[in-house]
Amino acid sequence: MIIAANWKMNCLKKESTILVNELIKAENLFKTSEVIIFPSFSLLSHVYSKIHSSNIKLGAQDCSFFDHGAFTGQVSVEMIIDAGCEYVILGHSERRIICNETSEDISKKLLKSFPLGLNTIICIGENLQDREDKTYLSVLKNQIKLSLSNFDKLDFNFSNNKLIIAYEPIWAIGTGKVATEQNINEVHGFIKSFIKDYFKTKINIPVIYGGSVNEDNSKDIFKIDNVDGVLIGGASLKSRSFLKIIENST
Ligand code: PGA
Repeated sequence: MIIAANWKMNCLKKESTILVNELIKAENLFKTSEVIIFPSFSLLSHVYSKIHSSNIKLGAQDCSFFDHGAFTGQVSVEMIIDAGCEYVILGHSERRIICNETSEDISKKLLKSFPLGLNTIICIGENLQDREDKTYLSVLKNQIKLSLSNFDKLDFNFSNNKLIIAYEPIWAIGTGKVATEQNINEVHGFIKSFIKDYFKTKINIPVIYGGSVNEDNSKDIFKIDNVDGVLIGGASLKSRSFLKIIENST
């Protein structure tokens, strides 16, 4: 299972050190699942210095689609790799909504992150209106088509890195409302078969679920067919909850 901890804009050095030390102490739990933490850019090097000899992997919450130069405030793929990252999250709904990031932007970022060897998690998800209008599958389909429009330019044969889709229904993020087993199973199955058919590929793309995952509901989520892991926000900031989720995945 992939267990991804999205810290969002939380934690200073001191808190991150406490959290990471707690995780390292329980490292024997990490034998079967791949655990990745995604701190803010400012914490990447600091967190890397604590985890680099453990089994915990590091990722960034975003990257630029430019290589380098006069792009104030942006952070390139090379920079996050230089800080110790093996993963990046692209297109989180908070970036899509707050920063007006589009699926076209995400496809340009993917073309930078994947060839340079980063495992790349692309987030997609419908809002409550789409769910109630029952248009969610076509919304998700469009997000996939556009975010992965450079799919044929990604070399899956020679790369060791993974492309991962995170299904995060916007109405479930930070709200305490979790998608039902039926919702998750339907959507994850749909994502996997749509990618295979549309991009005519045999590559198995892992699909992970995100949205109010916690220590109580995670056990049931891991049992759902087509769930290859979870992307966790709030509950990843509390070591006890996060460790319990990891334990539930094994
Ligand atoms: P949450 O966030 O677990 O706090 O709902 C998930 C996410 O936004 O990735």
